[in-house]
Amino acid sequence: MFRSIGPRPFKFPTPVVLVATYDENRRVDVMNMSWEGSFGLNTVSFNLNPVRKTLRNIQFTRAFTLCIADVPHIKEVDYFGMVSGNSTGDKFERANLRAEHSARVNAPILVDFPLSLECSVVTIEHEGNLVHIVGRILNTLADERIFDRNGNIDVSKIQGFYYDVFHDDYYSFGERLGSAWSFGAELAGRKPSNQEREE
Ligand SMILES: Cc1cc2nc3c(=O)[nH]c(=O)nc-3n(C[C@H](O)[C@H](O)[C@H](O)COP(=O)(O)O)c2cc1C
Repeated sequence: MFRSIGPRPFKFPTPVVLVATYDENRRVDVMNMSWEGSFGLNTVSFNLNPVRKTLRNIQFTRAFTLCIADVPHIKEVDYFGMVSGNSTGDKFERANLRAEHSARVNAPILVDFPLSLECSVVTIEHEGNLVHIVGRILNTLADERIFDRNGNIDVSKIQGFYYDVFHDDYYSFGERLGSAWSFGAELAGRKPSNQEREE
């Protein structure tokens, strides 16, 4: 038996990310964002409540960076979702984290986090009570420390976490289960992919 519970945004899991912007005085603002989505290879999208300072900044600069939040900074990450730069002018400074200017877009890079996307704004569209932002990823910055010996990014080194849309909790990601394109190989009548990762 299923229960129909109406249209709910229950896509799961949703990684917690941070959106970093400048205001008109080049002051850094950062917000917590857990409803971000990707489509295509170089596009990200998310919805903003129109009162967010982040929206005002994005309208002004037409740029932002988006980074994957990590467990070691969960306190600061949660704080970025609780306080607005509209009412707390030193919101970013209070978190005691570091920002550097992006070489590609007019937005700050949060250098304490290991993976950042440098994005320009493609569209800003009002949809009902929310504003839908689509950004183009111009570049990805990955800290040396998250690469494995083969030069690939090791997700476990990012230490990301996700937002539980059902209970408003945060969860860390679990163990690696194995290779994609291998579990379904038997059903697909194919040989499993034998890619085993060097740790
Ligand atoms: C887990 C979590 C997810 C959030 N996701 C969104 C979101 O998708 N869109 C949004 O507008 N606000 C979202 N927020 C709220 C903003 O992060 C929060 O209002 C923040 O203070 C906005 O900062 P700003 O006004 O400085 O931009 C989220 C907050 C949390 C804690």
